[in-house]
Amino acid sequence: MHVSGPLSSRWTAYLGLLSALSAAFAPAVAVKEHDFKKCHQSGFCSRNRAFADHALTSSAWQSPYGIAPESGSFKDGQYQAVILKTIGDSGETVRLPITVSFHESGTARVTVDEEKRQKGEIELRHDSKARKERYNEAEQWVIVGGTTLDKEAKVGFEDKTQLTVKYGPSSKFEAIIKFSPFSIDFKRDGSSQIKFNGQGLLNVEHWRPKIEKPEPEKTEGESTESTEENKVEETVEEPKGEDESTWWDENFGSNTDSKPRGPESVALDISFVGYDHVFGIPSHTGPLSLKQTRGGEGNYEEPYRLYNSDVFEYILDSPMTLYGVIPFMQAHRKDSSVGVFWLNAAETWVDITKNKDSKNPLSLGTKSKTSTHTHWISESGLLDVFVLLGPTPKDLTAKYGELTGTTAMPQEFSLGYHQCRWNYVSDDDVKDVDRKMDKFKMPYDVIWLDIEYTSEKKYFTWDKHTFADPIGMGKQLDRHGRKLVTIIDPHIKNVDNYPVVEELKSKELGVKNKEGSIFEGWCWPGSSHWVDAFSPAAREWWASLFKYDTFKGTMENTFVWNDMNEPSVFNGPETTMPKDNLHYGNWEHRDVHNLNGMTFQNATYHALTSRKAGELRRPFVLTRSFFAGSQRVGAMWTGDNQAAWDHLQESIPMVLSQGITGFPFSGADVGGFFGNPEKELLTRWYQAGAFYPFFRAHAHIDSRRREPYLIGEPYTNIIGAALRLRYSLLPSWYTAFRQAHLDGTPIIKPMFYTHPSEEAGFAIDDQFFVGSTGLLVKPVTAKDKESVDIWIPDAEVYYDYFSYDVIPTSKGKTVTLSAPLEKLPLLMRGGHVFARRDIPRRSSALMRWDDYTLVVAVARDGRLAEGDLYVDDGDSFDFERGQYIHRRFVFDGAAKSLASVDAEGRAPGDANEEEGAWMKKMRAVGVDRIVVVGAQAAWAGKKTVKVLSEGRTWEAKMEYTPAAQGRAAFAVVKKVGVRIGADWTVDFA
Ligand SMILES: *[C@@H]1O[C@H](CO)[C@@H](O)[C@H](O)[C@H]1NC(C)=O
Repeated sequence: MHVSGPLSSRWTAYLGLLSALSAAFAPAVAVKEHDFKKCHQSGFCSRNRAFADHALTSSAWQSPYGIAPESGSFKDGQYQAVILKTIGDSGETVRLPITVSFHESGTARVTVDEEKRQKGEIELRHDSKARKERYNEAEQWVIVGGTTLDKEAKVGFEDKTQLTVKYGPSSKFEAIIKFSPFSIDFKRDGSSQIKFNGQGLLNVEHWRPKIEKPEPEKTEGESTESTEENKVEETVEEPKGEDESTWWDENFGSNTDSKPRGPESVALDISFVGYDHVFGIPSHTGPLSLKQTRGGEGNYEEPYRLYNSDVFEYILDSPMTLYGVIPFMQAHRKDSSVGVFWLNAAETWVDITKNKDSKNPLSLGTKSKTSTHTHWISESGLLDVFVLLGPTPKDLTAKYGELTGTTAMPQEFSLGYHQCRWNYVSDDDVKDVDRKMDKFKMPYDVIWLDIEYTSEKKYFTWDKHTFADPIGMGKQLDRHGRKLVTIIDPHIKNVDNYPVVEELKSKELGVKNKEGSIFEGWCWPGSSHWVDAFSPAAREWWASLFKYDTFKGTMENTFVWNDMNEPSVFNGPETTMPKDNLHYGNWEHRDVHNLNGMTFQNATYHALTSRKAGELRRPFVLTRSFFAGSQRVGAMWTGDNQAAWDHLQESIPMVLSQGITGFPFSGADVGGFFGNPEKELLTRWYQAGAFYPFFRAHAHIDSRRREPYLIGEPYTNIIGAALRLRYSLLPSWYTAFRQAHLDGTPIIKPMFYTHPSEEAGFAIDDQFFVGSTGLLVKPVTAKDKESVDIWIPDAEVYYDYFSYDVIPTSKGKTVTLSAPLEKLPLLMRGGHVFARRDIPRRSSALMRWDDYTLVVAVARDGRLAEGDLYVDDGDSFDFERGQYIHRRFVFDGAAKSLASVDAEGRAPGDANEEEGAWMKKMRAVGVDRIVVVGAQAAWAGKKTVKVLSEGRTWEAKMEYTPAAQGRAAFAVVKKVGVRIGADWTVDFA
């Protein structure tokens, strides 16, 4: 859910809110772009772009930053020195301590601070209570591992001009630190991959006292609302005088940011040498392979912006910021991937240009003639960058996962289907939807309550008239193992007789304004305060609010949705908090803005682990706002999209982008939040949504009801089939989540990720593989389309999932698949085995003890096909104590057998602890059917197969269907009779 940006600036009175809101919600209204800053309206962004323009166009440019060689020392995998920044012609210098760390994991990290601010030797303006240091705690929230120093890293060469450090696995990596001008060249196997300050755009705005000069005749505000003409003027004035107009305060709309520490941005150019694709830095609309941002045909004019924002009706194909930020970028070329993680939580902009010049000295020695240059600009904080040298996309996601953590093992139910709208209006309404879903045989796991369930937007309360009996409602849901998710936002209504706000105030746990008193702003409830989740005391208090006997009406099957946590402040600048607000520790909001959503979601996550003494279950918390690390505490969705075909289309690259940047538990609102989807669109959206890692339908309060059973035939039936398809594949989804949890692997994977050598696939972002199942999906995202073109990345055989037709194709070919409305284009790649559960039921909980079906898609060469299945209780943390089953299935065409072995090589009973009740029961669950697609002709006539398991041998029936008319031969073994937790072999010989 969202708020209207447009409103913020013309805010008058709360009474005007409701009427104004409904007007603003008219679906035809697109985001008011002018409510959000463009680079030229952001002082530090425009200063750094001007700096770049000057540096890149003047032949005499030399970066004024150099390491004082005698300041440097290298010890235990870490190089420390001081960079001197020379100011103008004065010869005056500013000391910037730099640390370059080399980690055992093979990542390197470059951190630049500023001595004066570090030591607190600066004066704050306006009697500010803010901290004087550059923000240095992002690491504390974000980094969870992978930073053990590499004691084996060695200085390879050193003289007065440079230092070379060899590091990483088998010393394959090398960092060449040049002293003057300062630059670092990161090499792998002797060739340059990533270069820092190669273009000389490093810029650390040092502290300086304000010199009061007579103001030129300019009224306040004019500078930021600068017209195109002033902008040109400013650029022309460069480089003589710097543009100081926004150093000391800055206006946007009616807000003035007081900037007590003056200008303090950090910026750096990072070149990816010989790379022509860069991915990542979500969340934005637009293609997965990022565009150039400095104009030119097909390019953006604006840098990608990273500043968590409640963007009302966001537009497509834009570098505009959205609700969440992950400042992790990957560069890819044939057979090589490298990446950088820019650890800074302040407002950030990233310019991207590609340079095709073969004379470019940077690209010498690489096969590709294109290099990608990126320019990272953050408003405040440290300059802190991690360098990942690959070489595969999987190495990048794994190393990034080590640094920031991986996806939490989810509640199993959360992979099912979620039914949401703003709003289910009463407990009876909820119960009615619950019954209707059953009546129409539509499985679902979770029904959601948006803000209207509360008593007057007071969280932790219920509207007594409409939700008189929440426990009764919860119990009905529980009858079929279903769950309820209630929304809880960070804004706390500022009203009398509301204990939650009284405690927030009396305990001083709210975010403060620049004067140091509790910040007050406007959100759904009207006047509100914001809980400050950076404060340990606030988090502890927050946790107390969720206890079952405090948040009455909730029970074990209640989970939580955190919305509006950018934070959204209706009357704030750009619909968020003033940057000079103060958080715990007196850090300015400007320093921590992009972390805010994550700390709030994390506080809720921890709250859910302590609802009742002795109960420790996995939380489920959905967030709208996020940062690097949010994957550790829940799921995200792409915010307030629209019921339009292009939004359906855009959801795929957005979800793929989340996956490759470590936060794969993501999805888009099925059906589109704003507006009313036509029936065909809604149907196609369910087919696509069934393949989002997070699968939720949601709708705006002004949209017509659209629960999937309402749509009518043939749509109801088709949507029901999509839901049942999702449910039958849940075992494979859960297995993919396990992989993501272990090593950061995305859950749905783009082509460049699975096929890093196939250049034709690098820019493809409308089809994807699911986990390691070999399932290749290409959703239909256009109106009246009855076919899709799908690109086949390799020479494997591909079968149609439903018909077992062999797709006539070869490597690199694009084939057209027929896709009438009832058909989702879904292929099975040869060489994989995956697990399903084929009995349709009402919810995932009811499928828990069902037998499995294993599907073998035989490889083109008929030989190996492999896959795995991971299962645990889906609810507790017992899996951390070995209470899980992880099987590996190997089909060997030559030996004519399918075998199941423990995927981790454990002998039965090897688990660290004694088997619990769940394990005992689960081990006995069987494999009921085995489907072998692409079965050998030699099996024709065979009626049985031999099964060996647990010291016994028996026969199971097999039905063989010969190949016909483009369809592969297939065999179905029935009543296999093996237990999922045991070793077994099925012999087809
Ligand atoms: C999450 O909350 C826990 C418990 O309060 C705290 O220790 C941790 O630092 C928090 N992390 C983030 C990212 O907010």
